[in-house]
Amino acid sequence: MSSIRITILCENTVGPVSGTLGEHGFAALVEGDGGSVLFDTGQGDTLLHNALRMNRDLRRVDLVALSHGHYDHTGGLLPLLRNCGAKDVHAHPRIFSRRYRVKDTGESIPIGIPYDEAFLRGMGARFSLSESFREILPGVFLTGEVPRITGFEKGDAALFCDDSGCSADPLPDDQSLVIRTKQGLVLLLGCCHAGLVNTIEWAREKTGECRVFAVIGGTHLGFSPPGQVDSTVTALRNLGIKRICGSHCTGFAVSAKLLREFPAEFHPANVGYTLEA
Ligand SMILES: [Fe+2]
Ligand SMILES: [Fe+2]
Repeated sequence: MSSIRITILCENTVGPVSGTLGEHGFAALVEGDGGSVLFDTGQGDTLLHNALRMNRDLRRVDLVALSHGHYDHTGGLLPLLRNCGAKDVHAHPRIFSRRYRVKDTGESIPIGIPYDEAFLRGMGARFSLSESFREILPGVFLTGEVPRITGFEKGDAALFCDDSGCSADPLPDDQSLVIRTKQGLVLLLGCCHAGLVNTIEWAREKTGECRVFAVIGGTHLGFSPPGQVDSTVTALRNLGIKRICGSHCTGFAVSAKLLREFPAEFHPANVGYTLEA
């Protein structure tokens, strides 16, 4: 797309737009001359409310893309389908896997998608499930499964496929949206469980565009060891990224560090934040 606007619809915190609400989750609307994409849907408590407060008509959204199968990115799909009609939904086939966060105490919390595939299809979700990098609108791509190449992005050790915490969950379904703009690539991230640097390198390789203008969304750096944050800062500096817009699982402490490291480039991307390119 030659020009785009990304608006954060669901996020843990809100900005100055009157009457908007926060929730633990993420959703963003991409609008451009080639169409519009809703990327993630939050938990389901704030998507429709915040879209209305920001005068965004989600009935007109061309398609939905889901970054991965966690509830805080997929739970809003049901209210979206109920209120805004049937939608094409792009995702990885593993979004329906069982998912748990297992605490140090042994307590396990189910964190997977709260509805099964047949139910969502019955409610109007026209799923297109693929593991591959693909173009979903002109100049707009989904990364598909991201190869894990860096040594320092090891994933969140508290995430499991079973409630007893025996089988680690590598989140193979985690993917990001990549938009080709005149200024370079813009990457829109859900939780980026695949690792921010892994995701950036995969996007550069698959598009053949080496310039990265912006990253926006959840980085999961808030759940990573300090060494990973430091290595990520070095990689971002080497890439010369112009906008680093942290949301959701980036967390307060890592956001503060990124602001200190990148005072001109870092912006907290909460509900109502817009990025244009
Ligand atoms: Fe998340
Ligand atoms: Fe997640």
